[in-house]
Amino acid sequence: MPCWVTLSVHFLAVLSPLLSDPVTEDIDVAVFLPQNNSYLFSYARVAPAVRYAQRRLETDGGQYSGFRFHVHFENSDCVNDALFALVDRSCGRKPDLILGPVCEYEAAAVVRLASHWNIPVISAGALAAGFSNKGAEYSHLTRIAPSYVKMAETFTATFAHFGWKSALLVYEDDKEERNCYFTLEGVYHLMADYHIKTYAFSQEDRLDTDDVLHNIQDAEAVIMCMGADKIREIMLAAHRRLLTNGNCLFFNVELFNASSYGNGSWKRGDKYDNEARQAYASLNTVTLLRTVKPEFENFSMEIKKSVEKAGLHDCKDCASVNMFVEGFHDAMLLYAIALHKAMKNGNNKKNGSEITKHMRNITFEGIAGQVSVDANGDREGDFSLMAMTDVEAGTYEVVANYFGVNETFQLLPAFNMDHFTLRGRRKTPTETSDKSCGLGVSALTGVIVGAVLGTAMLIAFYFFRKNYRITIERRTHSEEGNTGKHRQLREDSIRSNFSAA
Ligand SMILES: *[C@@H]1O[C@H](CO)[C@@H](O)[C@H](O)[C@H]1NC(C)=O
Ligand SMILES: *[C@@H]1O[C@H](CO)[C@@H](O)[C@H](O)[C@H]1NC(C)=O
Ligand SMILES: *[C@@H]1O[C@H](CO)[C@@H](O)[C@H](O)[C@H]1NC(C)=O
Ligand SMILES: *[C@@H]1O[C@H](CO)[C@@H](O)[C@H](O)[C@H]1NC(C)=O
Ligand SMILES: *[C@@H]1O[C@H](CO)[C@@H](O)[C@H](O)[C@H]1NC(C)=O
Ligand SMILES: *[C@@H]1O[C@H](CO)[C@@H](O)[C@H](O)[C@H]1NC(C)=O
Ligand SMILES: *[C@@H]1O[C@H](CO)[C@@H](O)[C@H](O)[C@H]1NC(C)=O
Repeated sequence: MPCWVTLSVHFLAVLSPLLSDPVTEDIDVAVFLPQNNSYLFSYARVAPAVRYAQRRLETDGGQYSGFRFHVHFENSDCVNDALFALVDRSCGRKPDLILGPVCEYEAAAVVRLASHWNIPVISAGALAAGFSNKGAEYSHLTRIAPSYVKMAETFTATFAHFGWKSALLVYEDDKEERNCYFTLEGVYHLMADYHIKTYAFSQEDRLDTDDVLHNIQDAEAVIMCMGADKIREIMLAAHRRLLTNGNCLFFNVELFNASSYGNGSWKRGDKYDNEARQAYASLNTVTLLRTVKPEFENFSMEIKKSVEKAGLHDCKDCASVNMFVEGFHDAMLLYAIALHKAMKNGNNKKNGSEITKHMRNITFEGIAGQVSVDANGDREGDFSLMAMTDVEAGTYEVVANYFGVNETFQLLPAFNMDHFTLRGRRKTPTETSDKSCGLGVSALTGVIVGAVLGTAMLIAFYFFRKNYRITIERRTHSEEGNTGKHRQLREDSIRSNFSAA
């Protein structure tokens, strides 16, 4: 008998969401996307994904079908347009939800204002390290694409796995959107315990490969972020200096198919191809790990149709679904889930901080697979490490994956330990060295080693600071002559690790 009671109670509990009407609400959404199609997250590419999500939420008869989204698209020019549009349209009625902007400097201004107005913001951009600080000015921001710091976990996991301790970060700074600056800032931020040097050059300077390679000195790894042609120049120069014989490992970051990132391809059809192929044997590329599930096929087809209808033919992979397209879609789902929870708890859409809270520490089914947002409102990321597996043919394969959710570094069958063994300069510390702490090493040795290490680190730190200041100074110096050419740099706009150093 009691068994029957609990059963029927369970039965009712399961049915009740279906029996009762779904919660209803009108939601005013402002979406900031550039009209300019040179951006991977332009209106023509991303808007169909937002509409797809809206359609699915409103028509599938599920628990979110009572939500009516009124979506307004506003232009974003990666400078100030999004901010001005937000202020102008909010004179009347403020939106309930903001999606975007993607560009760092523009997002900083919009998110600050939105947080002040208690409006949740979900962006597939705002990837810079400064946005991790949700304490005050970015309190209402949720990042639905993995940030640069999440990407950097791939490096800390790789370095920990192989026991490497030092790296040189080399990046090209365009002084406008600064993708590469912010990308490697994430690495710099996360690798505070490692010996890290940085080398920046500006876009219009001639790349002095001798100077770059001079700075490698005793770095075990070089992590680069720059256009494909500059990567090739550096790899060719390194090859000629015999730095590609396993003395040093080279990494290239390519997160989305933007031209600011190198694409790991050595082939140009010039006389250096053969040399470049050999050089690239020691170049590894970190990219986003993309997963796909059957449902994604339909989504992808629909996006393709819309993009073609919008007459976007002038770019390669115009119609391909990238991280931003996917992110803006999933942002709509995440908001629906959070608003629904908040309303069940007796709140309403105007309580932005409460809704934002419901978007944290959550895992849900996104369009391409599972999406996990951490307790800070930042999405966990999965990344792949690609390496050349056939030097004769010059072909690449994914050799390892890093999963942010469980912080797992997974080696794949194509992985070849030889490729990741440093030779010549020093012996690769064995993997067990970390774990042998306190086993057979006398306390005294430990103290002495500790003291020596401490001093060495202090000295290294001193030199690093000195060296770093030189880089900064050099950069500032070259900026002077060019101020008219660049947009005003607001270094303080996003508190940056680089500029704080
Ligand atoms: C679009 O953006 C690119 C790169 O920022 C720029 O060169 C181009 O002039 C822009 N096009 C228009 C129509 O604004
Ligand atoms: C980049 O573009 C190429 C083809 O243009 C495509 O094969 C590849 O999947 C794209 N990569 C990402 C991460 O979107
Ligand atoms: C990589 O970039 C180079 C130079 O920008 C280009 O020529 C090449 O086609 C690109 N390769 C792929 C696979 O996208
Ligand atoms: C996607 O699915 C919807 C409904 O499930 C269907 O109406 C539509 O035709 C599908 N689109 C494609 C391109 O298969
Ligand atoms: C939002 O909700 C929280 C928790 O229910 C409540 O403490 C807070 O006062 C609400 N804020 C507003 C502005 O209604
Ligand atoms: C996140 O959620 C899980 C349960 O879903 C809970 O155990 C954990 O304490 C939460 N973490 C934080 C930081 O709120
Ligand atoms: C970590 O997560 C990934 C993806 O969800 C999964 O494939 C992998 O097996 C997990 N690893 C561990 C050790 O749990």
